[in-house]
Amino acid sequence: MQLSFATRTPDKEASLSLAFIVDPLSSRKAFNDPGVALMRAAQAHGHEVYAIEAASLSWQRPENTSAGSVYGEAVRLNLSLNNHDWYRETGRAWLPLRRFDAVLMRKDPPFDSEYVTATWLLERAEAEGARVYNKPRALRDHSEKLAIAEFDRFTAPTLVSRDLNLIQHFIDEQRDVVAKPLDGMGGSQVFRIHRNDSNRNVILETLTRMGTRTIMVQQYLQAIAQGDKRILLIAGKPVPWCLARIPKAGENRGNLAAGGTGVAQELSPRDREIAERLGPVLWQRGLFIVGLDVIGDYLTEINVTSPTCMVEIRQQTGFDAAGACITALERLCSSTSASPSAF
Ligand SMILES: Nc1ncnc2c1ncn2[C@@H]1O[C@H](COP(=O)(O)OP(=O)(O)O)[C@@H](O)[C@H]1O
Ligand SMILES: [Mg+2]
Repeated sequence: MQLSFATRTPDKEASLSLAFIVDPLSSRKAFNDPGVALMRAAQAHGHEVYAIEAASLSWQRPENTSAGSVYGEAVRLNLSLNNHDWYRETGRAWLPLRRFDAVLMRKDPPFDSEYVTATWLLERAEAEGARVYNKPRALRDHSEKLAIAEFDRFTAPTLVSRDLNLIQHFIDEQRDVVAKPLDGMGGSQVFRIHRNDSNRNVILETLTRMGTRTIMVQQYLQAIAQGDKRILLIAGKPVPWCLARIPKAGENRGNLAAGGTGVAQELSPRDREIAERLGPVLWQRGLFIVGLDVIGDYLTEINVTSPTCMVEIRQQTGFDAAGACITALERLCSSTSASPSAF
């Protein structure tokens, strides 16, 4: 089916056509998926919503044209609030990404070579004039774990290395640490290691693959008992509520994916200090939606690929972070410049 598109309209009141780059729609769990929340919010604001599966992103330079373009198979969606039957497809067409008013990259990790390739393609689309958030270059440049190194005054004692001697020395010194790979998510492969743990060596050999893979080792923060706080930044500004994810009994990891319980709470002065320091810097790079992880007073992770928790925050506080994202997007699209400072 052929779809007709309005050309870009800088008028703030006009409805926008928004493309969401996603994993297969059938894999989404609509009840807590932030991508679905964003699509619903976009529709509630009167915009046209299109989903493009990341696997369909392609660069095409057809026979009868003189220029190539980045295309995706755009599926026009009509969304409902029913979590079991959350969308209807109302049309489908291969379209160049520059035809949309904005493109939101919402593909989940793994951050593998296909993810990196998607950022390269999206960067080509940007060169053709597409507005893409989060900015593909920033997504690619930004390691969710290692990015804390730039903001070291907010981090706990941490070592990033694959050198087993260095790591062993750090554990001896700190006595109680967390060790994790640099590319995990949802708490995967996050180990707590006590200095006297008889599995200490085998954990390190496994995580570093016998010293051939760089990992992060960090002082164990007792404040995890009060939760791993997810602080959302939208266009550089903090959402006033965070979600403290409290590990279940017998578990070290607070991630909801690891059975943690999310409790919304207002930002503490320290949370706010961290958020206000990082927000403008990250937004300047085009990181539109960011999820900081803060344990106690320390920054532990900067999530940029597809941060979660906006649904839970809304359920508990009424604060509509997804709606706030769409409002921010409307402002960006109504300005003549797509640069972050336009917000
Ligand atoms: N320094 C730390 N001290 C105590 N617990 C930690 C620490 N770092 C991580 N964790 C635990 O591991 C979980 C996941 O860590 P995180 O670095 O956010 O990785 P992921 O990408 O898997 O979310 C956290 O929710 C927390 O429970
Ligand atoms: Mg995390």
